[in-house]
Amino acid sequence: MNAVATEAATKAILYAALLPTVGASAAFLFVAARLRPQAPASVESSIRRVGLIAASGVVVALALRAWAQADATFGLADSFSPESLHTILTSRWGLRWDWQLLAAVACTIAYAGSGGGRRVAWFAAAASGVALCVALTLTGHASGDPWRMTVHAMHLTGGSLWLGTLTTLALVTPSIDAESRVALFRAFSPVALAGAGLAAAAGATTAWMYLGAVDQIWQTPYGRTLAIKVILVACVAVCGLVNWRRADAGAGQGRVVALELLFAAAVIVSTAVLTELEHP
Ligand code: HEM
Repeated sequence: MNAVATEAATKAILYAALLPTVGASAAFLFVAARLRPQAPASVESSIRRVGLIAASGVVVALALRAWAQADATFGLADSFSPESLHTILTSRWGLRWDWQLLAAVACTIAYAGSGGGRRVAWFAAAASGVALCVALTLTGHASGDPWRMTVHAMHLTGGSLWLGTLTTLALVTPSIDAESRVALFRAFSPVALAGAGLAAAAGATTAWMYLGAVDQIWQTPYGRTLAIKVILVACVAVCGLVNWRRADAGAGQGRVVALELLFAAAVIVSTAVLTELEHP
């Protein structure tokens, strides 16, 4: 696999772990906590487990990112040597990567400490999740430009609020009764709408900043990849609408949630490729 493919693959793993890392705290604070009289106790511990596994996954993915950086810089043969990794971790990229690791470890510790409904730990998990979204912009296309970093951080937070919370609920709800399941997805709708709105607004702003002209959409690899991503996001949104209608009618979620997550996975892969391409 060449270095660009390795970079994209490790980014896809990182983004896939990032979404439920942020989404689990949103699922607890903005969805489960809204259920009256109260969400089944098993819901809280299941959400916590998703958050803990996802945040630990971000830590592992960040280690893979550092290796992928060594692979891109020194080649595969030397990428595992302590000298190469030391050079990467003490470089400017490495010092920025440290903030990402710090936020990911803080998230993991907060989820570990959130048992028994400790709300302060859930808020700490939410805060360090957003801090992780900000820290990830330190090494991407936005790095060095505070305005672009702000838009990227809002984009990542919105995408996580939408698809990260959905992923958490999809993993948690099979083990609870049908009535609570419908109530959770109904409570999720406004969170999905807010997250999707933020992701789309920040995404469109970013697209406009990087494309510069409409015809760059079909004339450049970056533009064409972005178009594919937006089509996939539209597929996620259509599934979301169907799920919303079903939740509103008090019907079960069925396979449409699985289809929504499949398209979400394709959004992640297309994004990982997009962030590796040069801007027009
Ligand atoms: C479910 C919705 C979405 C998710 C989960 C998502 C996720 C992401 C992620 C993880 C990044 C990388 C950010 C970084 O590393 O700094 C990104 C970048 C980007 N996204 Fe999205 N996105 C979504 C929707 C959209 C939409 C609707 C658009 C366009 C209208 C869009 C356009 C972009 C652009 C232009 C970038 C910058 C890529 C670069 O670094 O050059 N995204 N997105």
